[in-house]
Amino acid sequence: MLHSAPLWLALATTAYAQFGIEHTQYGTSPPVYPSPNITGTGWEAALEKAKAFVAQLTLEEKTFMVTGSSGPCVGNIAPIPRLNFSGLCLQDGPLAIRQAVLASVFPAGITAAASWDRDLVKQRGVQMAEEFKGKGSHVILGPVVGPLGREPFGGRNWEGFSPDAYLSGVLVEETVLGIQSTGVQACTKHYIGNEQEIQRNPSTVNGTEVEAISSNIDDKTMHETYLWPFANAVKAGTASLMCSYNRINGSYGCQNSKTLNGLLKDELGFQGYVMSDWGAVHTGYAGIEAGLDMNMPGGISFTGGASSSFWGGNISTAVTNGSLAIERVDDMILRVMTPYYHLGQDVGFPVVDESTVPLSFFSRADWKYNYTLGPMVDVRAQHSKLIRELGAAGTVLLKNVNNTLPLKEPKNIGVFGNDAADLTSGQYSLSISSGLASGDYDIGTLAAGGGSGTGRFTYIIPPLDAIKTRGQSYGALVQYITDNVAIAAGGLSSLSPTPLDACIVFLKSWASEGDDRTTLIAEWNSTVVVEAVASNCANTIVVLHGASPNVLPWKDNANVTAILAAHFPGQETGNSIVDVLWGDVNPSGRLPYTIANNETDYDLRIVNSTELVESTNPNAWQDDFKEGNVIDYKEFDAANKSVAYEFGFGLSYTTFELSDLQIKSAVSNPSRVPSSSAKVIPGGNEELWQTLVTVCATVKNTGAVNGAAVPQLYVSFPSEAGDKTVRSLRGFDKVMLAAGEAATVEFPLMRRDISYWDVTGQTWRLPSSSIGVDVGFSSRDLKLNGELTV
Ligand SMILES: *[C@@H]1O[C@H](CO)[C@@H](O)[C@H](O)[C@H]1NC(C)=O
Ligand SMILES: *[C@@H]1O[C@H](CO)[C@@H](O)[C@H](O)[C@H]1NC(C)=O
Ligand SMILES: *[C@@H]1O[C@H](CO)[C@@H](O)[C@H](O)[C@H]1NC(C)=O
Ligand SMILES: *[C@@H]1O[C@H](CO)[C@@H](O)[C@H](O)[C@H]1NC(C)=O
Ligand SMILES: *[C@@H]1O[C@H](CO)[C@@H](O)[C@H](O)[C@H]1NC(C)=O
Ligand SMILES: *[C@@H]1O[C@H](CO)[C@@H](O)[C@H](O)[C@H]1NC(C)=O
Ligand SMILES: *[C@@H]1O[C@H](CO)[C@@H](O)[C@H](O)[C@H]1NC(C)=O
Ligand SMILES: *[C@@H]1O[C@H](CO)[C@@H](O)[C@H](O)[C@H]1NC(C)=O
Ligand SMILES: *[C@@H]1O[C@H](CO)[C@@H](O)[C@H](O)[C@H]1NC(C)=O
Ligand SMILES: *[C@@H]1O[C@H](CO)[C@@H](O)[C@H](O)[C@H]1NC(C)=O
Ligand SMILES: *[C@@H]1O[C@H](CO)[C@@H](O)[C@H](O)[C@H]1NC(C)=O
Ligand SMILES: *[C@@H]1O[C@H](CO)[C@@H](O)[C@H](O)[C@H]1NC(C)=O
Repeated sequence: MLHSAPLWLALATTAYAQFGIEHTQYGTSPPVYPSPNITGTGWEAALEKAKAFVAQLTLEEKTFMVTGSSGPCVGNIAPIPRLNFSGLCLQDGPLAIRQAVLASVFPAGITAAASWDRDLVKQRGVQMAEEFKGKGSHVILGPVVGPLGREPFGGRNWEGFSPDAYLSGVLVEETVLGIQSTGVQACTKHYIGNEQEIQRNPSTVNGTEVEAISSNIDDKTMHETYLWPFANAVKAGTASLMCSYNRINGSYGCQNSKTLNGLLKDELGFQGYVMSDWGAVHTGYAGIEAGLDMNMPGGISFTGGASSSFWGGNISTAVTNGSLAIERVDDMILRVMTPYYHLGQDVGFPVVDESTVPLSFFSRADWKYNYTLGPMVDVRAQHSKLIRELGAAGTVLLKNVNNTLPLKEPKNIGVFGNDAADLTSGQYSLSISSGLASGDYDIGTLAAGGGSGTGRFTYIIPPLDAIKTRGQSYGALVQYITDNVAIAAGGLSSLSPTPLDACIVFLKSWASEGDDRTTLIAEWNSTVVVEAVASNCANTIVVLHGASPNVLPWKDNANVTAILAAHFPGQETGNSIVDVLWGDVNPSGRLPYTIANNETDYDLRIVNSTELVESTNPNAWQDDFKEGNVIDYKEFDAANKSVAYEFGFGLSYTTFELSDLQIKSAVSNPSRVPSSSAKVIPGGNEELWQTLVTVCATVKNTGAVNGAAVPQLYVSFPSEAGDKTVRSLRGFDKVMLAAGEAATVEFPLMRRDISYWDVTGQTWRLPSSSIGVDVGFSSRDLKLNGELTV
């Protein structure tokens, strides 16, 4: 139903079918050649070491430095013992070293984003990376800023942060800095336009190869929305970027010279390497010339059988017969080895842990080398503390009638819903079709999504267990029903005594790589469950776990007194929610997306229909990003449409006040555009990162308890900036304030923050008329209003 494409799209697709394979409206991707060489900016000493290394390689060794091979990890660059190079181990994923045993499952990106807490997000990066390093993994296949979250139904949005490019940009930067501070490489993914799972890869219909979906993105939207957070990742020094499965303007993500050579390596000055998503390479040296540096997984497919990588020995042939310049191959290896030396991975890096192997993609019999593996190590350290803290910090309190929360030691507590219970289908939920336990199990809490971004739980604290522990600590009775069918069938009649003082209902929404969501309403008869509990209980508190956004058809039920969006908190999920419910932690999460009144209120953009699925037109799958920057809250603001809970919203157990807006220029009379002679640093023209204006405000805790405020700054561009966006986030801070305490918050605005992309001039441009500045507590609660002119 919802996934039938919007009407205009269905019509457009028909038109393409009639007119052949040309996609007239967005044209093709322009050729950008040659591929820029690494310059080593910021990594100069490491580049010299990499050059010395490359100088010793044979041509065959060179081909295997850029083509993956079978081995103990999800991705492997083979060792060269002759040169004391022990190879590279690449492992999933963005919230845990996925398949490893005795490792932690951290909160997902969506939880990290909902915390709006730079420090916690950075610490998450540090501690995850410590676990990867402990298990001998050189490269984390994460963090994620693509998908950005254009589609509320997108199956992988939860792996990343937020559909707001600015928020995602800040958080990916902190994550990359955190990860790489431990000497582990970050691989920021998926570059770029990977906004839906359906048809992300080519399919075969009646023997005809049908190409992957093409994300058709205009230049302005590319810069102002989708490329934006990748620029932050490059600025933070991400060692690597993973190109995506989808096409962009008709050209595959891993062979698109405009996105790889042009935007990434030239404009953003990226110094690291581009690796392919697994199986995303569809060509030989053409992709190399377009800017791809590493082919993953390489020669042996991750399904076990032999498969073509297009690279490997073909690279030697192409170099020898003069088709491919050896200088380009050398540049690829320099890009791989420079971050390796920069992060000190050449000295004393731990060996790969034997225990990761049984679940690796590759059959041991296929390994290209006899790897020396280390013993099983427990890398969890004290990480559960941060996991618990961030799980609570990423929980958003949406409704709290008459201050029902925090709970005041209720004596008769009810716990309901399949999401409250302990896991019942195993501790590792890869995906529905993996043959391993499905994450879409009925009874059992949901604390991580599925696919390559999941994790293996060594333990989990289910909400029910944590509530029992808390209740028993002061002698409360805890009654519970975790079978949703039983609840729907009148199971609450078995409770005694009644009425209950507080009824806590746990709902969940599954999502996984490989498919998009079919509903934004929590699963397993959630509406029936909430209504059944609420009809018996005047103090019903609903907690949502899993993918988001959700819509909440029962939100105005008078007996639903509190609602919490608790996202994917990781292994300490029960403790995190108990900390918030009982008020040990004052909730400070804010929505990093918009919750609509109804799922039909979102502009539904997932491209899918039976007609498309059955089409044998190779170019049938086209996704025009016609809405430009106007997604999520920008979409609702532009349409002046009411929402259930807006971007940036979240309640606290205390209250805050904002006052005293001040706008100060840091640079007088800046030029309209950054100087074209300024240095290009990783992240782009260095002047883009210069603070031009500082905005200050005073925030005060006006309530009776300590708590953290999240003041947010939004800018409104004048019409010359050329789009329909009403306002855009350009600053935020998280400030812990004791009751009665006040503090000044400062929002530095860099040139990029207050510029728009000038398509004609191919540069960021400061508007000549004034820019609106609003500071508030959400995208629709804008207490302070001003203007700035630069
Ligand atoms: C895609 O096509 C649009 C419209 O022609 C153009 O503005 C944009 O730069 C192109 N982007 C890429 C990556 O090819
Ligand atoms: C890259 O460097 C090589 C020399 O190592 C040079 O031949 C080639 O022209 C350079 N490519 C670019 C795009 O500057
Ligand atoms: C695909 O093959 C089936 C069975 O042979 C046939 O019924 C169907 O019409 C074909 N579809 C297309 C689009 O060719
Ligand atoms: C070279 O590429 C072809 C496909 O073009 C493939 O069949 C072959 O296996 C490749 N060779 C190697 C060594 O990967
Ligand atoms: C050179 O080798 C590559 C890789 O095998 C091949 O694709 C290409 O056609 C060859 N070119 C010539 C001129 O032989
Ligand atoms: C080989 O590498 C190890 C670290 O992995 C280092 O300790 C050792 O000194 C290196 N040996 C040589 C000969 O460079
Ligand atoms: C690995 O070691 C085994 C046993 O020593 C040997 O038979 C095999 O050839 C080796 N494989 C490789 C790829 O070196
Ligand atoms: C909230 O408080 C108001 C005023 O005391 C009262 O009328 C209302 O019934 C209360 N609502 C709930 C759900 O307890
Ligand atoms: C919803 O409840 C009905 C009956 O109570 C049951 O048959 C059905 O399987 C449930 N669906 C889900 C998804 O739990
Ligand atoms: C709210 O709870 C009370 C007490 O259990 C019940 O009588 C009433 O019907 C409930 N209201 C709704 C809308 O479920
Ligand atoms: C959502 O909108 C659809 C279509 O307009 C409507 O049928 C449905 O009742 C609405 N749901 C809610 C909960 O308002
Ligand atoms: C996509 O469309 C197909 C064919 O109509 C359908 O079977 C599938 O469930 C849809 N996928 C999603 C996620 O809606």
